Amino acid sequence: MEKKNIDWSNLGFGYIKTDKRFVSNFKDGAWDDGVMTEDDKVVISECAGVLQYAQTIFEGLKAYTTEDGRIVCFRPDLNASRMADSAKRLEMPVFPEDRFVDAVIQTVKANEGFVPPYGSGATLYVRPYMFGSNPVIGVKPADEYQFRIFTTPVGPYFKGGAKPITIKISDFDRAAPHGTGHIKAGLNYAMSLHAIVTAHQEGYDENMYLDAGTRTKVEETGGANFLFITKDGKVVTPKSSSILPSITRRSLMYVAKEYLGLETEEREVYLDELSDFAECGLCGTAAVISPVGKIVDHGKEICFASGMEQMGETTKKLYDTLTGIQMGRLDAPEGWIREIK
Ligand code: PLP
Ligand code: COI
Repeated sequence: MEKKNIDWSNLGFGYIKTDKRFVSNFKDGAWDDGVMTEDDKVVISECAGVLQYAQTIFEGLKAYTTEDGRIVCFRPDLNASRMADSAKRLEMPVFPEDRFVDAVIQTVKANEGFVPPYGSGATLYVRPYMFGSNPVIGVKPADEYQFRIFTTPVGPYFKGGAKPITIKISDFDRAAPHGTGHIKAGLNYAMSLHAIVTAHQEGYDENMYLDAGTRTKVEETGGANFLFITKDGKVVTPKSSSILPSITRRSLMYVAKEYLGLETEEREVYLDELSDFAECGLCGTAAVISPVGKIVDHGKEICFASGMEQMGETTKKLYDTLTGIQMGRLDAPEGWIREIK
């Protein structure tokens, strides 16, 4: 398929309508076969469960053009299983995991012309999502659902790409203990909007949320997990039952250990130990690894030795190795790369 005429290297993280999307409906207890359609409009009841009680979940993954010109997706099976976990927590039907992966592949294939070329710095972002579609007025789960997947070509999530960002310790909480922080529910993002608008108004790029129970431990940002590098080169990531289990973070911890021979640790990370770390980064599908240069705790600045100009040395190694695997420059662990044929 011929590539679309897009200025790939100057894309930000925005929405561009692509040609095709996948749609499947759940009714009378079963999912239909699903179709690929050009229709980007969703028509639902004014009283749909998603509109009244926010019964909606989503996923995010990317398709890449490799160095040798293949189109691949990164670990879509993990998005499928996380979406199943999200669905169960919000009393929604699970879209079968094998069908999820198949639909992702079909949707990327149908929009091949929008997959950015190798070396452009852009990728095709894939957004699977599901919502309650029939009228619900008493507080209860919907009976009917729609599962959709659209794609959009994207550039870096943070303006400036690899330039370190500044983070604010938020006064707002993202997720409660025993709440929904560990699933990818739209409601987690709705409640973060006021916090992120406030942080942006104050000149920060992102928020660091703390654990709501004690406000002493690091959780995550609105859209990425944290990674820290100790002064002796260990990779540390916060452990918490109320953060999203990032596929990028899980992959990076494996890469750190198995490809780079670094020591890794998933453990509780306390706010008052932040100044002991040498490097800090945000990791996620959209963020990839975005370096953090500074964290501000109510006026008190915590500056990492890696500075505000470039990625720290270990963060850069992790970035190069992960993107090397995703773009086919390095051999991937078994099952990590799904080729779109
Ligand atoms: N944390 C939150 C709140 C997110 O929205 C995301 C994005 O998906 C992540 C972490 C990173 O997860 P992943 O690496 O699976 O994209
Ligand atoms: C992703 O990284 O895929 C996400 O869903 C994060 C979102 C904030 C864009």
